Amino acid sequence: MYKRFLITAALPYANGPVHIGHLAGVYIPADIYVRYLRARGREVKFICGSDEHGVPITIKARQLGVSPQDVVDKYHTIIKNSFERLGITFDIYSRTSSKIHHQTASDFFKKLYDEGKFVELSGEQYYDEEAQQFLADRYIRGICPKCGAEEAYGDQCEKCGGTLSPTELINPHSAISGSVPVMKTTSHWYLPLDRYQAFLEKWILEGHREWKTNVYGQCKSWLEQGLQARAVSRDLSWGVPLPLPETEGKVLYVWFDAPIGYISNTKELMPDEWEIWWKSADTKLVHFIGKDNIVFHCIVFPAMLKAHGEYILPENVPANEFLNLEGDKISTSRNRAVWLHEYLDEFPGKEDVLRYVLCANAPETKDNDFTWKDFQTRNNSELVAVLGNFVNRSLVLAGKYFEGKVPPISELTDYDKEILAEIPTIRRRIEEALETYKFREALKEAMNLARLGNKYLADTEPWKLAKTDMPRVATVLNISLQICAQCTIVFDPFLPFSADKLRRMLNIHPLSWETSNVNALLPAEHQLGKAELLFEKIEDEVIEQQIVKLRTTANSLAMETKKIAPQKESISFDEFAKMDIRVVTVKAAERVPKTDKLLKLTIDSGFDLRSIVSGIAEYYSPEEIIGKQVCVLVNLEARKIKGIESQGMILMAKNDDGKMCLMQASAIMDNGATIG
Ligand code: MF3
Ligand code: ZN
Repeated sequence: MYKRFLITAALPYANGPVHIGHLAGVYIPADIYVRYLRARGREVKFICGSDEHGVPITIKARQLGVSPQDVVDKYHTIIKNSFERLGITFDIYSRTSSKIHHQTASDFFKKLYDEGKFVELSGEQYYDEEAQQFLADRYIRGICPKCGAEEAYGDQCEKCGGTLSPTELINPHSAISGSVPVMKTTSHWYLPLDRYQAFLEKWILEGHREWKTNVYGQCKSWLEQGLQARAVSRDLSWGVPLPLPETEGKVLYVWFDAPIGYISNTKELMPDEWEIWWKSADTKLVHFIGKDNIVFHCIVFPAMLKAHGEYILPENVPANEFLNLEGDKISTSRNRAVWLHEYLDEFPGKEDVLRYVLCANAPETKDNDFTWKDFQTRNNSELVAVLGNFVNRSLVLAGKYFEGKVPPISELTDYDKEILAEIPTIRRRIEEALETYKFREALKEAMNLARLGNKYLADTEPWKLAKTDMPRVATVLNISLQICAQCTIVFDPFLPFSADKLRRMLNIHPLSWETSNVNALLPAEHQLGKAELLFEKIEDEVIEQQIVKLRTTANSLAMETKKIAPQKESISFDEFAKMDIRVVTVKAAERVPKTDKLLKLTIDSGFDLRSIVSGIAEYYSPEEIIGKQVCVLVNLEARKIKGIESQGMILMAKNDDGKMCLMQASAIMDNGATIG
């Protein structure tokens, strides 16, 4: 039996905020698991932190003209706060730029180095002579040999998705200086994974057949291909410096230092006790990660730990697949995501709705799709209609007939006994599912408890019995309220905010998962609290707004691959002066029937009211645009569009990919103010 549970969640890169894909894949399941273990009285530590090294962070810093430290400071704060607000209960959320991490990672490397666990290899690599530095793959751009796209990265083409090596790029150039890079010799330290092949095969393929099929399958395929040495150092200035003489300009590869972050963060959390957690066989170590991290957590990091020799290995790595968003990939670089911090601002008090939807629809065995429609449906017809409704009916009826007190049981019918017998069965199913990392199934079973309660009320109809048989009503409501109390236990890992609210409504303290007497969680005569709505309905408009937002903020391709329209031929000042451009206010707006893109706007030009038909319906709803001051070319020849006379043109900025936005004056101006 394990004495303690050390649960880690992948350290998110501090080069952007956290989005729903991260949550569904890693952080929500990990938090559910941890909350469950705690509820069962286990000794648990939940470890996470920001992954603050690596090339993408330096690229972002360069783009923004700030230091890498500025970038990670910014995102570390955003990420840490947003996790807290969603109720993710890390025992520590630290960061890999910390001193303790640099020291720990550096010592780890040094020990392996001293014991001859690395091999040093030299080879040729692209070097930017102008910037005087070796170029990471991401810093080399050129034409993709596979699809001909320009500006592919040295490691990947974003257009065709192909994996590349920098030497394959046609006409390579440096993303730093733009110059043509040259080949130069450099040397790096490699972890010879082939030496661990036999050990890993035995440990995973024989010892961990119980791992999820997607995880086991990926490991098997890596092992079948035969493992090769992997470089653990890089020529870069941002990272943990190599602790060796004359290695200026070299740092640990980010995937070498980041997983050591789990150890450093545990150390920071428990300076005196961390070794028991990492070095005793009775600690159960579990890594929660996404599928792109499998090889690092199942092969590379275990090989590192094995090479080091003092540490335990993970007992399980329940990796999830990916979550898509409205039928397409989530992408940080394209800004195509639902960002956690924005969700929290836009849906205050609805933390649990997101937790619920992302768990109910988690990509546990295959990639899944998040849609706002599904989000709404699950809220309205599951949280509101099943759980919320059951709880509300029970409490309201107890208020109505028993002055808000738990009524006593007089006599149990066979049906009552059947219902009561279901409760431990459902709980066992939840436990079994949670212990085996099947969080969707566990949540479904928890909902079945609420369904059971609803069905019980519907079958017994206490509101009808109230006229004839009050003792029977008392029994029915007692049982319903016991089920409500049971809900506070089983929903607590999934929906902590709502479980809390429900406890307030029932006027109880948190109950232990281990309570044995399922039908006596609430003693008779216990005074209940005030009945409130546990969840509220989400309206169509709210969902539509989110869909529009996604469409208008997502960039279709990475910035660099966009075409910018060439400059048009020159015109004289007189030609320019012929255009009469004015600031106007939109007074009314409506969709043009049978079109997707057109809005009919009525504008106040300062000297008249007129109609203009504009192709902006994909980006602005009529409600959004009414009242806005915009810019209009008012002396454009009038013409009929879809039978409507259009007198002028609304000025819009337009990207190559079609994204548009209104041109607006930077201060409120008079209608009719001239522009020029
Ligand atoms: N930052 C990585 C990612 O987001 C995960 C790092 S996990 C760790 O994919 F083990 F390396 F910390
Ligand atoms: Zn390509």
